[in-house]
Amino acid sequence: MRKTLLATSIIVILSVPSAFAHHPDKVIINAAAKKQAEVPFNHMKHVKRAKSCDTCHHMNKGLTAETKAKVEKCSSCHLDPKPNVPGMREMSLTKNPFHQACIACHKTQKKGPVACTGCHLKKS
Ligand code: HEC
Ligand code: HEC
Ligand code: HEC
Ligand code: HEC
Repeated sequence: MRKTLLATSIIVILSVPSAFAHHPDKVIINAAAKKQAEVPFNHMKHVKRAKSCDTCHHMNKGLTAETKAKVEKCSSCHLDPKPNVPGMREMSLTKNPFHQACIACHKTQKKGPVACTGCHLKKS
C-alpha cells in the first residue's frame, strides 16, 4: 500500500512540470552579488507575466518552453560591462541590464518591486 502510494506520488510529481521541461521554476541570480544580497527570482511566475520568453532572453528570438535550444545565462554575456553591453556588476539603475529590464516592466505594469530591497532581499 505504501509502495503504491509512493509510486503514484512520484508519477504525479514527474508529470506536472513536463509542459515546462525547458525552463526552471525558481532561480537565484547571484553571479555578480557583492555589495547587495542575491536576488531570488520566480521564473515560473514570470513566464506568465511576460508576453514571451524573448522579452528577457533577447538573444533567443522565438524561444518557447518546447524549444530545445541552449539558453545561456544572462551572466555569460553581461557579467562585466563592455562597450554597448550593460554589465550586471553596476549599481546604476540605468547601466545594469537587470535594473533596466526588470524595473522597466515593474514600472509599466505598476506591479513588482522597484525598491532595492524588494529584489535584493536581505538574508535572514
Ligand atoms: C527588479 C529587481 C531589482 C531592483 C529593484 C534592484 N536591483 Fe540591483 N540587481 C538586480 C539583479 C537581478 C542584479 C544581479 C544580481 C547578481 O548577479 O548578483 C542586480 C545587481 C546589483 C548590483 C551589482 C551586484 C552587487 O551586489 O554588487 C548592485 C550594486 C545593485 N544591484 C544595487 C541596487 C540598488 C542600490 C538598488 C536600488 C536603488 C537596486 N539594485 C534595485 C535586481 C534589482
Ligand atoms: C521575465 C524574464 C524572463 C522570462 C519571461 C523568461 N526567462 Fe528564462 N530566465 C530569466 C532569468 C533572469 C534567468 C536566470 C539567468 C541567469 O542566472 O543568468 C533565466 C533562466 C532560464 C533558463 C536556465 C538557464 C541556465 O543555464 O541556468 C532557461 C532554460 C530559461 N530561462 C528558459 C526560458 C524559457 C523557455 C522561457 C519562456 C517559456 C523563459 N525562460 C522566460 C528570465 C526570464
Ligand atoms: C549571448 C550573449 C547575451 C545573453 C545570453 C544575454 N544578453 Fe543581453 N545583451 C547582449 C548584447 C551583445 C547586448 C547589447 C546589444 C544589444 O542590445 O543587443 C545586450 C543588451 C541587453 C540589454 C540592453 C538593451 C538596450 O536596449 O540597451 C538588456 C536590458 C539585456 N541585454 C538584458 C539581458 C538579460 C536579462 C539576459 C538574460 C535573460 C540577457 N540580456 C542575456 C548579449 C547577451
Ligand atoms: C514582463 C514584465 C516583467 C519583467 C520583465 C520582470 N517582472 Fe518581476 N514582476 C512582474 C509583475 C507583474 C510582478 C508582480 C506580480 C503581482 O504582484 O501580482 C513581478 C514581481 C516580481 C517580484 C516579487 C515576487 C514575485 O515574483 O511575485 C520580484 C522579486 C521580481 N518581480 C523580480 C524580477 C526580476 C529580478 C526581473 C528581471 C530578471 C523581473 N522581475 C522582470 C513583471 C515583470
